[in-house]
Amino acid sequence: MCGIVAYVGERTAYPILIKGLQRLEYRGYDSAGIALLNKGIHVYKCQGKVKDLEKHTNGNAISGTIGMGHTRWATHGEPSDNNAHPHESENGKFIVVHNGIIENYAHLKKELINRGYNFKSETDTEVLANLIENIYLEKKVDAELAVRLALTKVVGAYGLVISCTDEKDQLIAARKGSPLVIGVGDKEYFLASDATPIVEYTDQVIYMNDEEVAIISREKLDMKSIQNDAKVPKIQKVDLSIEEIDKGDYEHFMLKEIYEQPSSIADTYRGRISLDKSKIFLGGITEALPAIAKANRIIIVACGTSWHAGLVGEYLFEEYARIPVEVEYASEFRYRNPVVSADDVVIAISQSGETADTLAAIKMAKEAGATIIGICNVAGSSIPRETHAGVYTHAGPEIGVASTKAFTSQVTVLTMMALLIGKKRLALDEITYSHMVDELTQIPEKIKEILKSEKHIKEIAETYQKASNVLYLGRGCLFPVALEGALKLKEISYIHAEGYPAAEMKHGPIALIDENMPVFVIATKDKSYEKIVSNIQEVKARNGKVIAIVTKGDTVITNMADHVIEVPDCHEALAPLLTVIPLQIISYHIAVLRGCNVDQPRNLAKSVTVE
Ligand code: M6R
Repeated sequence: MCGIVAYVGERTAYPILIKGLQRLEYRGYDSAGIALLNKGIHVYKCQGKVKDLEKHTNGNAISGTIGMGHTRWATHGEPSDNNAHPHESENGKFIVVHNGIIENYAHLKKELINRGYNFKSETDTEVLANLIENIYLEKKVDAELAVRLALTKVVGAYGLVISCTDEKDQLIAARKGSPLVIGVGDKEYFLASDATPIVEYTDQVIYMNDEEVAIISREKLDMKSIQNDAKVPKIQKVDLSIEEIDKGDYEHFMLKEIYEQPSSIADTYRGRISLDKSKIFLGGITEALPAIAKANRIIIVACGTSWHAGLVGEYLFEEYARIPVEVEYASEFRYRNPVVSADDVVIAISQSGETADTLAAIKMAKEAGATIIGICNVAGSSIPRETHAGVYTHAGPEIGVASTKAFTSQVTVLTMMALLIGKKRLALDEITYSHMVDELTQIPEKIKEILKSEKHIKEIAETYQKASNVLYLGRGCLFPVALEGALKLKEISYIHAEGYPAAEMKHGPIALIDENMPVFVIATKDKSYEKIVSNIQEVKARNGKVIAIVTKGDTVITNMADHVIEVPDCHEALAPLLTVIPLQIISYHIAVLRGCNVDQPRNLAKSVTVE
């Protein structure tokens, strides 16, 4: 939610900021703005996307070797020119870009109004800019101290870059809750919400920790805590290449990421499965394995697509490791008073590793004494830093807002964990274990086969592109795939879609079925096959249109359904990894046919760092 980029060095800042904002646009795209600082002060900002900002700056002064930029996902105040960042303090002393939420902004604003401050925007960020300025002017301290003092009054989350117009050669950055990465170059520094705007210039980065402040000029970088304790920055090599964050020949990131799944899944299990395919090693959880194996229960916390992966995990852990599992929306779990104890293992699943609700849920479970395991994609993000142990998914950067390859990598990790723990608990026999590991390694080739049917899937998309409502049905571990299919469709094409356990249809949703209702049924061969065939008949009897995802060679459903999409045969526990692919492709094509912005759907952002 919101992307920040900043530069201080000897190059012209403008192109670095613009390119950086384009890379961060997946984090929010309601408005964009930049401030160029050392050669005069120029602030440009407008509602809309980075391309609108470029038009807005066209013909204006864009020189300067220090600057900051912001791309916004609106929280306080609608998307507008006024609410766009950077925000200037009333007397023009401070310029601020911010990612996060200042929770006590209303109280702070009231105090500032009483002191004579006026506000031009509805944002919490402008409150912070004025708070810093007020302290700076009243206490007559330097900019750094004014920032630190202001932050002691702030409740909430922030990734901040601040410039004081009296100290134009330096930037001040601070982090609490929202990510900030510093790129270290030769007499130059880069700042960004993630490493994607930085990798083009340097592979040396510092991931800022919570409550740290960095004071950065061309010559040096000072790190300290908000309370003024010196901090030694830990410089790391970032593991990210430019090609990974480029669309290449694909029209959209989403399509590229769908097509990457054979390799992203292989990357997830690479080095974690023995050559003879008889063993799984998950180095990140080796030490926690005894605790997981003897856990009373596993609680999975996540949001959105990651929550759907968690539901697949529930099925796998219960079936193969025989541990009771609860899957919780992180946002619900954290605001209830859940019963969590030291005998519980909490698994947090998150692509970004920054989702505020998931982060808060694991902090709460940690305080209750549970063992916390993370399954995350973004290395160095906040969630892996809060967990006791974890497994990275290694899916590579996922830029499209609609999650695709992150889901299949999360399911791959959960599958490996369930098998490993099942074996350790003697719940899974050696033969089944080895057979399933072997089957897992065949998944990438099977996905390649499914991808070959893109043309056929696109034709189905053409038929249903104008639908207003769509149902998705599945059973067992394919029920979460139905939920995921529905989420993919609604988030990028704005068609109302719902996922249901197929057997639940007769308890309500069946009332919706008529000749205008497309119903996707995930009906591969497994132990509920006969039951789902009956569910398809129930839909057909009411003239619903059935699009069935079936196992290759299926003739029974092929004779009943309006359309079928075949996937290769596989072990039933691995079917989510295959059956989700056609659903991703169909959502993609329906959204493109409807003229929607596939990679940046309205109102959404990739990384939800607000609660
Ligand atoms: O980064 P996370 O996995 O924690 O994100 C959770 C959800 O916000 C995310 O999965 C969201 O639902 C996706 N846009 C769905 O495609």
